[in-house]
Parts: sequence; structure tokens; C-alpha cells
Amino acid sequence: MTRIILIACVSVSFALGHGSAQAAEKKGVDLSKLPPTSDKIGVTYATDIKPMLEKSCLRCHDGVKPKAKLRLDSLEGVLKGGEDGKVILAGDSAGSMLVHSVAHLGNADGYMPPPRNKAGIQPLTKEQIGLIRAWIDQGAK
Ligand code: HEC
Repeated sequence: MTRIILIACVSVSFALGHGSAQAAEKKGVDLSKLPPTSDKIGVTYATDIKPMLEKSCLRCHDGVKPKAKLRLDSLEGVLKGGEDGKVILAGDSAGSMLVHSVAHLGNADGYMPPPRNKAGIQPLTKEQIGLIRAWIDQGAK
């Protein structure tokens, strides 16, 4: 009986920890530094997010050979993720890798757009990151 309970606990904590905010904190992502979520309602990929990604991300995450095999030019592409798996978790912006990348939290190799990129693309603003967070928290539609 004890063993079953133990296995159950381990599985539950794994399920909760994997890809979630707790998992992010274990990887050194300081979630207290995340820009606040925008209070805009009805945020969608088509109207709010794609235009932003077009300016800051699609130069490298579009077409037939996107960086890290991650296409951001369609909702399907974003939801599918890249070579390291899912980049957003619908409903959990704080646990989403894409949010950590654009907020420059955690591993500096993953900061997006890459700092000092040749194209001179600037980092996203706190307001833009807040809008991405709202979109993810509202279900990434
Ligand atoms: C100048 C090119 C460039 C731009 C612009 C760029 N990226 Fe990237 N991106 C890369 C490269 C290169 C990698 C792979 C990095 C690595 O493997 O260390 C990457 C990887 C990623 C990953 C990790 C995917 C995975 O599965 O490992 C995410 C998420 C990401 N980018 C999001 C974005 C977002 C969001 C933007 C816009 C705000 C953006 N990128 C803009 C070049 C770019």
C-alpha cells in the first residue's frame, strides 16, 4: 500500500512539475521578474500576436528552415513547438518557454530575439510580453 502511495505521489509531482512554472523555477527562471499580464480581453494570435511576431521573430522562425525547427508564422506552428518540444502551454504563461525566452529569464542562450542579432531586431517591450502572456493565459486561440 505504501509503495502504491509513493508511486502515486512521484507521478503526480512529475506531472505537475514538468513544463510548469515550478519546473521553470528549478531551471533558474526567476518568475518574479516576469512582466505583468496585460488585462486586454479576447486576445488572439491573428489580431494581436502574429503582427508582433512578424516584426520581431519571423525573420528566423519562418519558411522551410526555421531556427530550432520552430515556426511562429501560424498558430499551428506555435502550438507544435520546436526541436525542444512545446514552447507554450495554453493557460500557463508563467510556465511557457517562449515567455521565458522573450522576457530574458533563465538560460541566456535562449534569449529571443538573440541579443545583438545582425538584423538589429530589438527585444520585446514589457507591454508586448504582457500581451503574449494574456494570449497564452486565455487559452492561446
Ligand atoms: C536572428 C534570428 C532569430 C530571431 C529574430 C528570433 N529567433 Fe528564436 N531562435 C533563433 C535561434 C538561432 C534559435 C536556436 C537557439 C539555440 O538552439 O540555442 C532560436 C530558438 C528559439 C526558441 C527555442 C525553440 C526550441 O524548441 O528550442 C524559441 C521559443 C524562440 N526561438 C522564440 C523566438 C521568438 C518568440 C522570437 C521573437 C520575439 C524569436 N525567437 C526571434 C533565432 C532567432
